[in-house]
Amino acid sequence: MKDGLSVILKKYGKDKSQLVSILQDIQAEYNYLPREALEKLSKKMDIPQSHVYSMATFFRAFSLNKRGKHIVNVCLGTACHVRGGELILESLERQLGVGRGQTTPDLKFTLESVNCMGCCATGPVVKIGEEYFGHMTNDKVEPMLKKYRE
Ligand code: FES
Repeated sequence: MKDGLSVILKKYGKDKSQLVSILQDIQAEYNYLPREALEKLSKKMDIPQSHVYSMATFFRAFSLNKRGKHIVNVCLGTACHVRGGELILESLERQLGVGRGQTTPDLKFTLESVNCMGCCATGPVVKIGEEYFGHMTNDKVEPMLKKYRE
């Protein structure tokens, strides 16, 4: 863990204007922002911890909690909602055994929701990592998850 962080911190030197980019790199490395990494970043770059945390909590893309290897996003925007997005979310909650915003104990999946993915015509839509699944139905949930479970 520490090696990846050292490489990131070295890359940016003491350039405080790059704080968001550094946080993005840390999140990309660990899939979330570990407390230990933020403390080290604060110390190394001489940025108050309160400022680091305010940036880390301001952007929705950042997470201070451990996240799964695969981020499952269910769209609950209007177009997807009227086509059954909530039912797909419930089905995912049952299949994964966690609620929205939670991560499975094996750290494989984190279940989240978004308000629109920009592909409303194919709703309801689920996204796992960078892969989109349109026209979702309850029957498609388990086969969709299968390849990510391995
Ligand atoms: S509302 Fe779901 S993609 Fe736009």
